[in-house]
Amino acid sequence: MINIRFRFLAIGTAFLGTALAVVCWDSPVTLVAMAGQAPGSFNSGQPRATEDPATVAHGKTLYGINCQACHGADLRGGDMGGPNLLRSQAALSDEHGEMIVPIIQGARQAQGMPNIGLSDQDAGAVAAYLRSMIGAIGSQGKPPGEEKPLDIVVGDPGRGSNYFAAHCNTCHSTTDDLKGIASRFPEPKTLQARWLAGGPLTGRNSAATKATAEVTTKPGQPASGSLVHIDDFLVTLRLSDGTERSYRRDGPTPHVVVHDPLQKHRDMLPTYTDENVHDITAYLVTLK
Ligand code: HEC
Ligand code: HEC
Repeated sequence: MINIRFRFLAIGTAFLGTALAVVCWDSPVTLVAMAGQAPGSFNSGQPRATEDPATVAHGKTLYGINCQACHGADLRGGDMGGPNLLRSQAALSDEHGEMIVPIIQGARQAQGMPNIGLSDQDAGAVAAYLRSMIGAIGSQGKPPGEEKPLDIVVGDPGRGSNYFAAHCNTCHSTTDDLKGIASRFPEPKTLQARWLAGGPLTGRNSAATKATAEVTTKPGQPASGSLVHIDDFLVTLRLSDGTERSYRRDGPTPHVVVHDPLQKHRDMLPTYTDENVHDITAYLVTLK
């Protein structure tokens, strides 16, 4: 119930936000969208509430966790190969998530943008954040955050250590598998991207490819291999001999069981606050 109401609110404000945001975005698309808008109906020098602030704040946190390593803190592209989102046609024309949400959920996997696996609501919040940033360019005349040096080691290592003991110790040990992790990844940004994802973030070869799956078409004769692709209609495995095999899915047939050692990592992503992320990174940086 609360969810549904929240969504209506978010969609309502998203529409309002777009109407305001496009007025100051200087492009042909804008001019079309502006028709029907009273000229001078807002003062571009004033800060504007273009999106629901709570949604944008949530989207910002999720962006920092899920997107920043590839698309940059200022959205202009990052160390790990994501393009500049301030010039992305998809992001610029997004009105209420219809362009951005499918991309977050895997529509561009073939081009190297992994399926981030966010829920509709979380992906919608990230879209609202991106629109708010794009909207802000018009009034500032430059990409937001430009020239701001980025130091991501701003957390408290002590709190990070406590968080690690409470949430990470079940699978990891700083004296075993994560020993010297900061020496293996001396660049804090890379280290942060690594622990957030649980593995390398390189588009198609992303950590997600560690998943395996078992497909049972005939009782007692499961085929298993590494999971190449899965959606509601198709599952593709790479078998041990290197060949790929696809199966059409129709509801529960065939029976598919996915084993993804990193599922837990992905499930945890939305549970971190900005502070948690900063603290854990600050702690891991000490593990030389
Ligand atoms: C592992 C790196 C990586 C991560 C993480 C990542 N992206 Fe991307 N993203 C890419 C790459 C590479 C492309 C270019 C794909 C293409 O050519 O269409 C892309 C494309 C996009 C585009 C389309 C840009 C265009 O060409 O118009 C959007 C929008 C986008 N990403 C948003 C996001 C958001 C939002 C997140 C986080 C929820 C995210 N990305 C996380 C790598 C990444
Ligand atoms: C349910 C088990 C589980 C939990 C909980 C978990 N991880 Fe992981 N983590 C994994 C697995 C599985 C991998 C992939 C290991 C591999 O590739 O060998 C991984 C990978 C990593 C890596 C990359 C290691 C490398 O060598 O590249 C880091 C760093 C990491 N996790 C940090 C964390 C942190 C920090 C937490 C707590 C916030 C956490 N993990 C919680 C299972 C878990």
